[in-house]
Amino acid sequence: MTEKLLNTLVSDNTALADPFGRTISYLRLSVTDRCDLRCAYCMPEKMQFLPRPEILSLEELETVAKAFIKLGVNKIRITGGEPLTRRNIMSLFEGLSNQLGNGSLGELTLTTNATLLSRYAQTLADFGVRRVNVSLDSLDGTTFARISRRAILPVVLSGLQAAKKAGLKVKLNTVALKGENQKEIPSIISWAHDQGFDITLIEVMPLGDVHAERSDQYIPLSDIRDQLEERWTLDPLSYRTGGPSRYVRVRETGGKLGFITPLTNNFCDGCNRVRVTCTGKLFMCLGQNDHADLKTALRSSPDADGLAQCIREAISRKPKGHNFDIDQRIAPAVARHMSVTGG
Ligand code: GTP
Ligand code: 5AD
Ligand code: SF4
Repeated sequence: MTEKLLNTLVSDNTALADPFGRTISYLRLSVTDRCDLRCAYCMPEKMQFLPRPEILSLEELETVAKAFIKLGVNKIRITGGEPLTRRNIMSLFEGLSNQLGNGSLGELTLTTNATLLSRYAQTLADFGVRRVNVSLDSLDGTTFARISRRAILPVVLSGLQAAKKAGLKVKLNTVALKGENQKEIPSIISWAHDQGFDITLIEVMPLGDVHAERSDQYIPLSDIRDQLEERWTLDPLSYRTGGPSRYVRVRETGGKLGFITPLTNNFCDGCNRVRVTCTGKLFMCLGQNDHADLKTALRSSPDADGLAQCIREAISRKPKGHNFDIDQRIAPAVARHMSVTGG
C-alpha cells in the first residue's frame, strides 16, 4: 500500500460507507460467545466455545469500540453470548460512558437474556445505558425451560423488573418457534405491553449447527401476523430504532410490536451495521463469512492507524446482504452460531 493511500485511509474523516452507499453508523460488539442459557435455536446443549486465550481483553475491546467511534459510529450495542456473564464487564460500560458524556457516541446499549440484570441494571443506567433488549421466548416456566434448557424464568422476570426500576426502556425479543411458543405469542405480547415493554418477534435464522432441523423450528412471521390480525388491529408505524425491526402499534393494547423478518422480507438494503466478535473478527454481514482480523491489526500497530485502516478496508467490501435459506438440509447457511457473531 502506498504511503499516500495509507494516509488517506487513516486521516480521512468521511463517514464509513460501503460499496452500496450505505453508511455504517452502528457497531454490535460481542464481548463473549459464552452464555448461561442454551436456547435450542441458538446452540446445542454441548456447545464448543471459543478458546479463552483467543479472546480480546476488555481494554482491547474498548480500543476497538473507540476506533469505530472515531470513524463515525454513533451507536454501540454490546452483545454476546450473554454479555453480562463476562467478568468485570461493567468496566467496559464505564470506559464507553465517557464517549456518551462527550457527545462522540449517541447510544450505548446491550442485548441480554436478563439472568444477571437484577445485579447490573442500576449500574448500566448509571453508565448512560437508556434501553436494553431482552430475549424472552416464553412466560410459561416449563416452555421457557424447554427452549432455553435452563429452568430460570423467575430469575429472568426479576431481571426485567430491575431494569424497569432502574428506568431502562425495555424491548423484548421473542423468536417465533413452530409448535413451541407459537400459540403463546399473543399472550406474551399482551403481557409485554401491560408492563410497558416494546416487543419484537424474530424469524429463526439458519446460523450454526444446533443439532436440530431448522425447518422444524421455523415459522414465517407472515403467518403469525395473519393470526394476530384476526385478534387485533395492527397500525403500521414509521418508528425506527436503526435496527431491522418494522413496527406496528397494537391498537387494543396501545403497545409497539416489531417484526424482524430476514427470511420472508429481507431488509439488507437499509443495513447500517457491522459486528465484531470477542476474538476481534469484524464481520461485515451476519449471514456471510468474509471478515477482517482486527486482533492482528490491534496488536501489531503501535497507534490506532492500523486498526482504522483495517476497518475501512473491510467495510469497502461489505456484501450486499445475506442469502439465508431455511431449507438447507446439508449444512446451516452459515456455520457460525448467532452467539459468536452477537446477533
Ligand atoms: P434495536 O433496533 O436497536 O432495538 O436493535 P436490534 O433489534 O437490531 O437488536 P437486537 O440485538 O435486539 O436483535 C434482534 C434480532 O435481530 C437478533 O436476532 C439479531 O440477530 C437480529 N438482527 C439484528 N440485526 C440484523 C441484521 O442486520 N440482519 C439480520 N438478518 N438480523 C439482524
Ligand atoms: N435465529 C434468530 N434469532 C436468534 N437469536 C439467537 N439465535 C438465533 C437464531 N438462530 C436471537 C436471540 C436474541 C438475539 C440476539 O438473537 O434470541 O434475542
Ligand atoms: Fe444465550 Fe442468547 Fe443464545 Fe439464548 S439466544 S443461548 S440467551 S446467546
